[in-house]
Amino acid sequence: MDATLAKLEILAGPAHADLAAAVARELRVTPLYRQVTCTDDGERLVRVDESARGRSVVIVQPIASPVGDSLLELLLLADACWRIGALRVAAAVPYLGYLRQDRRAYPGDALGSRVLADALATGRFLPLFVVDPHTPGVEAAFSRPVEMLSAVPLLVEAIREQLGPDAVIVAPDLGATKLARRFARRLRLPMAIVYKERLGPTDVRAHHVIGDVAGRKPVIVDDMISTGRTIAAALELVLEQGALRDVVVVATHGLFMGSAFERLGSLPLSRVVVTDTLPQPGNRPFPVEVVSVAPLLAEAVRRTRAGESIAALE
Ligand code: R5P
Repeated sequence: MDATLAKLEILAGPAHADLAAAVARELRVTPLYRQVTCTDDGERLVRVDESARGRSVVIVQPIASPVGDSLLELLLLADACWRIGALRVAAAVPYLGYLRQDRRAYPGDALGSRVLADALATGRFLPLFVVDPHTPGVEAAFSRPVEMLSAVPLLVEAIREQLGPDAVIVAPDLGATKLARRFARRLRLPMAIVYKERLGPTDVRAHHVIGDVAGRKPVIVDDMISTGRTIAAALELVLEQGALRDVVVVATHGLFMGSAFERLGSLPLSRVVVTDTLPQPGNRPFPVEVVSVAPLLAEAVRRTRAGESIAALE
């Protein structure tokens, strides 16, 4: 049978079963039964239902913390699907970890993004769906197709109504410039760029702002919020330059590691908006609005199977 015509199965990886369930609901299918257990010595035991045989399976699993476990679970699930005789195995990995290791800061560093790409190649995914990867150029490290999706249209619609013409889109570092430009174009707003220097894995310093932020409401956009240091450093500088103390922060991936919430809680933020590419529990010490990428992933899966373009999802 042609793999594109095979019945579709959505397989929930343990890293984000809620997102997998939401994608399955969008596609009106019941998630495929699977078991993922842990042995006494910490190994993962994975078993998928035999009904995966002859089917087209999409595994939903972000490379979420603990990233090593998430990656291995994804690869074990793929192996189980191939071995049972799935016709095609795709993966929706909305958050791909390790992509910030896209170059060596020191000669003795490992190139984590390349190692991740090589590991994922063993899953033989056709295709791999990712959302707003930190380094879009990482696609070149993959020999198999990678479909790059973006949450920007969803995030723009989540914030559009609240923004007047006095808002300014702020890229908190040079790496976020292209992302900020996409927000600015869609919202027809000016943009500013903060020049940030990373002094170490946990230390950043913002040096200067390119663009006019005085008297404007800053909307800081980034691909991810981890410790919140990048946002805090950029915000300190734009406030010094006269920006209004009524700030919106928007990012695709909310990692919220370490003391991120205390840090964000100390800033004059009116909204923090992220997506559910990673699990976002409700009981947070700081209010975070969550936009779901389930409709985006479901539509990308549907279009891929139907042989339709996914360019329109941009
Ligand atoms: C860095 O280049 C990324 O785009 C983010 O700005 C950064 O990883 C965010 O991390 P943190 O919240 O820890 O500053």
